Amino acid sequence: MSKRPLSLLLAIAASVATPAAAQTEVSLPKHVQAIVTERCALCHGLEGESASAVYPRLAAQHPDYLQKQLKDFRDGRRKSDTMSEMAKDLKDDEIALLARYFASKPAGARQPGDADLAAVGKYIFHKGNSLSGVAPCASCHGPKGYGTAQLPRLAGQHPSYVETQLKEFTKRERTNDNAIMHTIASKLTELEIRAVSVYIGALQ
Ligand code: HEC
Ligand code: HEC
Repeated sequence: MSKRPLSLLLAIAASVATPAAAQTEVSLPKHVQAIVTERCALCHGLEGESASAVYPRLAAQHPDYLQKQLKDFRDGRRKSDTMSEMAKDLKDDEIALLARYFASKPAGARQPGDADLAAVGKYIFHKGNSLSGVAPCASCHGPKGYGTAQLPRLAGQHPSYVETQLKEFTKRERTNDNAIMHTIASKLTELEIRAVSVYIGALQ
């Protein structure tokens, strides 16, 4: 095979693998850049890659979703001691820019986990659990977990964060939830939660 078709193929594969949200470069005014560097980056990384699994990845997340969550933290609708403190003095226009900035960054590398667990997770993600009435995650978050403008991206998210959120949705501790995820998460067993989180972390 000549070099050309291969590189063409790779270029196509790369463009398919990158969700639309992660393409345009966003340049920030100095004071917003300083918020990123001096605040957000400490936990989420300069490009939202969140090297530590304790903090959710923001890179390639949808801007509208990031914007809503930041406002919810700021205004106390989504309870989190850490994030309420981080967002409390942010103005609407700063939040909009921060959301666009992190959304424009490339998704972090996938995180392969235990293959047997991931296989169970794959089943739940794509087929749900008809015995307990769990809808397939893919039906809303998309077959690759990329989400939509209204729905968060899950692909590549840290499994421990996904697991925590699912448990918080179950207990209604994710206080800004819109009831949909409460209904779904509360029907998942602990094993299913762990399995689907591992599968999500490995998606890219
Ligand atoms: C001290 C660590 C820390 C800093 C600094 C920090 N965050 Fe967070 N962030 C967190 C934690 C922890 C969570 C998870 C909150 C939870 O679920 O209760 C989070 C969650 C988020 C979420 C929700 C993600 C999702 O998928 O729902 C967004 C958006 C976010 N942070 C943006 C920011 C921005 C923007 C900044 C800078 C202004 C920032 N964070 C600074 C720790 C931090
Ligand atoms: C009927 C549509 C629907 C289905 C099916 C669905 N979700 Fe969701 N999911 C949502 C919506 C809407 C949100 C945003 C919730 C919010 O902000 O309150 C969400 C949010 C989430 C979040 C939080 C993301 C973040 O960054 O904090 C996780 C994790 C999640 N869903 C996992 C799952 C899993 C796992 C499944 C399958 C077992 C699933 N979802 C099935 C609609 C759905």
